[in-house]
Amino acid sequence: MVSLVKPHGADALKPLYVADEAARVALQHEAELLPSVVISSAAAANAVMMGAGYFTPLSGYMNKADMLSVAENLTTADGLFWPVPIVNMLKDVSAIEGAKRIALRDPNVDGQPVIAVMDVAAIEEATDAELEAVAEQVFATTDKQHPGVANFLAAGNFIVSGDIQVLNYSYFADDFPDTFRTAVSIRNEFVERGWNNVVAFQTRNPMHRAHEELCRMAQEALNADGILIHMLLGKLKPGDIPADVRDASIRKMVEVYFPPNSVMITGYGFDMLYAGPREAVLHAVFRQNCGCSHLIVGRDHAGVGDYYGAFDAQTIFQEKVPAGALEIKIFEADHTAYSKKLDRVVMMRDVPDHTKEDFVLLSGTKVREMLGQGIAPPPEFSRPEVAQILMDYYQALDADK
Ligand code: ADX
Repeated sequence: MVSLVKPHGADALKPLYVADEAARVALQHEAELLPSVVISSAAAANAVMMGAGYFTPLSGYMNKADMLSVAENLTTADGLFWPVPIVNMLKDVSAIEGAKRIALRDPNVDGQPVIAVMDVAAIEEATDAELEAVAEQVFATTDKQHPGVANFLAAGNFIVSGDIQVLNYSYFADDFPDTFRTAVSIRNEFVERGWNNVVAFQTRNPMHRAHEELCRMAQEALNADGILIHMLLGKLKPGDIPADVRDASIRKMVEVYFPPNSVMITGYGFDMLYAGPREAVLHAVFRQNCGCSHLIVGRDHAGVGDYYGAFDAQTIFQEKVPAGALEIKIFEADHTAYSKKLDRVVMMRDVPDHTKEDFVLLSGTKVREMLGQGIAPPPEFSRPEVAQILMDYYQALDADK
C-alpha cells in the first residue's frame, strides 16, 4: 500500500486547471468576452503552478494583506504556512477597473492567449516602500542587481487578487512534452510505481558528478524507493543554461548512470526567483504536494551571487519553519566534490582530514570557459556524455555571436 505525505494544508491536491473539456471550452468562450489584461511572466508562472496543483491549497492570487503577512511571517492572514507571496502585480489596471470577472493573458505565448479567468476580490495599490520591504524580507536584499528583486520591483504596484480557474499550462506543456508534469500526475505515478519514500532533487542546472552522487547518497541514506529529478522549466537569468539543453544532459546522465526505474525526470513551469532560503522552503512545499518524503537542499540552494550564506537555505528550516508546518523533510547535503585521495565523490563533512587541494573543484566560470572552447572538464567533474551536450551548446552559442 502506497501512503504518500499529505498535500500542504489540504487532504487532497487542489489543481485549479479546469480538467473537464466541455467546461474548459465554455470558459474559454466566456474569457474572450471579459475585460482582459496581459500579466507578468511571474504571475503567469504562478497560474501554471496553481493550475498544476503544486501550490495547493491556494485558490488564487494573494491580496496585499496576505502578501505582507507571508513576507513578514511566512503565513497568510488566515494562518496558512506559505513562504513566498503568490501575487499578480500590474503596472496598469485601467482595462480591468471595476470588473468583477476578468481574463488574464499570457505574455509568454504568441497572441497572448488567456491563461486563466479570475474573480477579482480586490485591486489594491502598494507603495514603493511596501514593495521594497517585501523584497527585503523575501530576497534578503533590495539590490536591483539581484535578478529576482529586479523582476519583483519592476512588476507594478497594483496587487490584483482573487480566485482563478486555469485554462492551460502556458508554453510548458508544448515545449517540454516529456518533462513538464503536474503535481497530480507525479503523485499518481508514485502510486502506480509503488514508491512510498521519494527524494526530490531541485535543479536549474545540468547535473555534474557532484549532483549525480548527491542524489545517490540521499537515496541510499534515506532508503528511498526512487529519486524525483524535478527541474525548473521557466525563465532564468541571462547566462544560465536553457531548460532544453539541461533536460537533454540530465536524460543522458540518468540513462547511462542510473539503474532503470530508479529516477523520474520531470519539470515544473515556474520562473526562477533566486530567493535562496525562502525559495528553498517554497521548493519543499511543492515537493510535498508532489508526494515526496524528502527534498535535497545542498550548497547555495536557489542562490545567486553572494546574497546568501552557503547553507542559509538549510538553516531557514530550523529558524523559520514551525514544527508541524510541513510534512516533507529536508536532506541536508554538505558541499560535495570529487576526492582525489579516495577516488570518489564525497561530502566534505565526511572527510575531515581533507584539505582544499584534495578535491577537484572548478568554478562555474572556468567550466563555462572550457566548454566554450570545446574542452571537456575532467571526468571527475563531468560525465563525458554530459560534457559533450554542454560543449555542443556553448560552441553553437559562441559561433552565433
Ligand atoms: S538551484 O538553484 O536549483 O538550487 P542547482 O541546480 O545548482 O541550483 O542545485 C541543485 C541542488 O544541488 C541544490 O540543492 C544545491 O544546493 C545542490 N548543490 C549543487 N551543487 C552542490 C555541491 N557542489 N555540493 C552540495 N550541494 C550542491
